[in-house]
Amino acid sequence: MKEIVLNTNTQKSVIYCGSGAFEKYAHIDGGVFVVTDDNVYSLYRGLIEKTFNGAAVKVIRAGEKSKNIKTLTAILQSMVNAGLKRSGTVVALGGGVVGDIAGLAASLYMRGVHLVQIPTTLLSQVDSSVGGKTAVDFNKVKNLVGSFYQPEKVIVDPLFLKTLPDREINCGLGEIIKYGALDKGIYQKLQSADDLNNPEFLEDITADCIQHKAHVVTVDEHDLNGARKTLNLGHTTGHAFELYYGKKSHGEFVLIGTYYELYIAKKLGLCEDGYADSIINLITSVIGAIPVYGDVRKAAQFAVYDKKNNDDKISVIAPKCEGESVEIKLTVKDYLDLIAECNGVLKEKYENS
Ligand code: GLY
Repeated sequence: MKEIVLNTNTQKSVIYCGSGAFEKYAHIDGGVFVVTDDNVYSLYRGLIEKTFNGAAVKVIRAGEKSKNIKTLTAILQSMVNAGLKRSGTVVALGGGVVGDIAGLAASLYMRGVHLVQIPTTLLSQVDSSVGGKTAVDFNKVKNLVGSFYQPEKVIVDPLFLKTLPDREINCGLGEIIKYGALDKGIYQKLQSADDLNNPEFLEDITADCIQHKAHVVTVDEHDLNGARKTLNLGHTTGHAFELYYGKKSHGEFVLIGTYYELYIAKKLGLCEDGYADSIINLITSVIGAIPVYGDVRKAAQFAVYDKKNNDDKISVIAPKCEGESVEIKLTVKDYLDLIAECNGVLKEKYENS
């Protein structure tokens, strides 16, 4: 088991990562309030009751649709009803939605109570449970209302991955490959892996991704100096397509976004063909062929709302070379033209194959 420490100005977060972490570290003294979703609760009710004996449990509906102010208010009301004290602890036990909304509730209730994140999906284990971003969607914009609120502990145990559908594993692999494009060590492990789905490999690489993220958050907790922005590699186009097309998982869209943004980087001479191809091989090993889209300009138009943008330019973080990414700033027109061009190249390739 690995112990990763993330120190910020406001909090020391300890991330316990590996098999047995839940059993060893999930017992919490004092008042505990558990937030989970109905999927996780139906699978782990016995474990939750045994571990957090007597704790109030708020079960929300699984899925992104729950990430709103109404569910947040319901969680806060349940905290009041349960008599949670300022010295109490909110345990966010679930995937990214549970982590984000329970984290926000913990930051608001009595101006902040203790928070422990116990991520149960690969995606939330490698990314969203670490670093203190909390949020709900608002006015149809993802994560528009939120806070930075560091958990005291993050317990990352592969135990929960045993019940995770393959699609969810692929979703997490999307973020893992993103880390591969940012970190040389992770890239090399991905390149030499025989099977990306192997549980031992996943346990090891998860700790590496968390280590990378902990370092980035230490130097740029509040996303101000550009370091944390790199964690959005592939996300400008990925998010835009996710908003427009839906259906696939977040991680799959991150991989599709990375593919498109690699095309842009190559076209601008910022990424060598050989390196780009090695990232594309990783992407296609997880999601298969990159889909060809209709309406691609309309979908890409959603990138205009990306929080990374500045000065009316679209900001894209793309792989550059091993362990390095590059921020590319494009006018909306150039960005849309390049996305449409990439889609056209893909279309031609499929039609001729
Ligand atoms: N998931 C990106 C970040 O935490 O900054």
